Amino acid sequence: MIESLQLETSPIPIGLLPDTARVNGGSLTIAGCSLEDLTTEFGTPLYVYDEMTLRREAQQTLRAFSPLGARVSFAGKACGALDILRVFREEGLDLDVVSAGELEAGIRAGFLPSQLHLHGNCKSDEELNRATHLGIHAIVVDNCEELQRLSTIAHGGRRTGPSVQVRLQLPLEAETHPHLRTAGCRSKFGVALEDLDEMLSGTAARSGLQINGVHAHLGSQIGDAAIYGRAASQLIEIARTLKERGFPCREASIGGGWRVAYSPRDRALAPSEVAQEVRLPFAKEQWLRPAVEPGRALVARAALALYRVGSVKRYGRRRIVAVDGGMGDNPRPALYGSAYHAIVPARILEEPVGEADVVGRYCESGDVLASDVGLPPVAAGELVCVPVSGAYQLSMASSYNLVPQPAVVMVRDGNARVILRRGTMNDLFTRETSPR
Ligand SMILES: Cc1ncc(COP(=O)(O)O)c(C=O)c1O
Repeated sequence: MIESLQLETSPIPIGLLPDTARVNGGSLTIAGCSLEDLTTEFGTPLYVYDEMTLRREAQQTLRAFSPLGARVSFAGKACGALDILRVFREEGLDLDVVSAGELEAGIRAGFLPSQLHLHGNCKSDEELNRATHLGIHAIVVDNCEELQRLSTIAHGGRRTGPSVQVRLQLPLEAETHPHLRTAGCRSKFGVALEDLDEMLSGTAARSGLQINGVHAHLGSQIGDAAIYGRAASQLIEIARTLKERGFPCREASIGGGWRVAYSPRDRALAPSEVAQEVRLPFAKEQWLRPAVEPGRALVARAALALYRVGSVKRYGRRRIVAVDGGMGDNPRPALYGSAYHAIVPARILEEPVGEADVVGRYCESGDVLASDVGLPPVAAGELVCVPVSGAYQLSMASSYNLVPQPAVVMVRDGNARVILRRGTMNDLFTRETSPR
């Protein structure tokens, strides 16, 4: 019997779990699949994505922004697995890409070129060429030199010029980890507002390219909805200036970056809260289409990472729980000090018996997946699960220490299918020119 109600009264925060999380016989299940059974079949570490949560997040985001007539894209950097991109394509999202590799992923996942736009602060000629050749929705140009190169590439090939947007360095400093902040002065991204005039009258005027959009992305894990309203107002002003100077500016993107909750202490920002802030500034500007490109908010809560416990060390009341994954599949705690939660899925209804650090298997002291989390009793051989593992983990994963990368399954209606197979020993040596 599925004890769905018990989850609401369990000590674990339900808001960190996928929508299909239930309790069966005292253990956590996702989409009707027992986590223990999944790891028996597919091994550990294992990433489990819940298809229904992905679809619901996409639908909720579209519902929030559709009344504004906005273009809604998924920022593919958050998770580029093809089957996840396909889910978002089916739900009607466009795709934001940041390299030729992500561009290729978008095409393989079935997106039309007109559904793709390309970012990047240092794109190669090859990337600009490919995007121009495909005729994507927009190339978001980061700087004058890039605009110049793009002009040469576009005209050298005698192609119709690509559609170009300008990434702007808005003077807005979002409250978030400094490594997640991508606007404000001294940011490496975008054109500073004081340089815009020179760019428009110089390179842009000579380039023969149509600048038909403006773009900003303030950063990631932003919890203040009001800053998106301020970004919208600033972008609209700049778009108006572009229009007055003869550039056919029709789209303004406020980027993505709204916050998700990783631990019980965090509060997520709902897409409707962001939409509410940008609705008013855009309401009076029918000539300008808003655009958004969230990544994390669409995928983070949809996935759990499952690890097998190798050992439990005790220092007084404190436990150090070592698991068979870590910074190889999730470098975020080491990179940004990100605070995750952890759960023992087979003891989901049990109260914590004290705090523990869940540490990884990699040869780095910074390889700590979750610190100071209340855990029930847990022993070697049991499963530990890290919720909210769907964003920027697999896309940043490495084979550090020559450890193969984890398998990824997608679950739906009691069935699981592998969408990324487990890395193998051979995978580790595929790039060696003398593997033996
Ligand atoms: C240009 C751009 N757009 C969108 C995003 C997505 O941000 P998030 O995943 O926090 O929503 C990023 C993330 O780095 C980005 O650089």
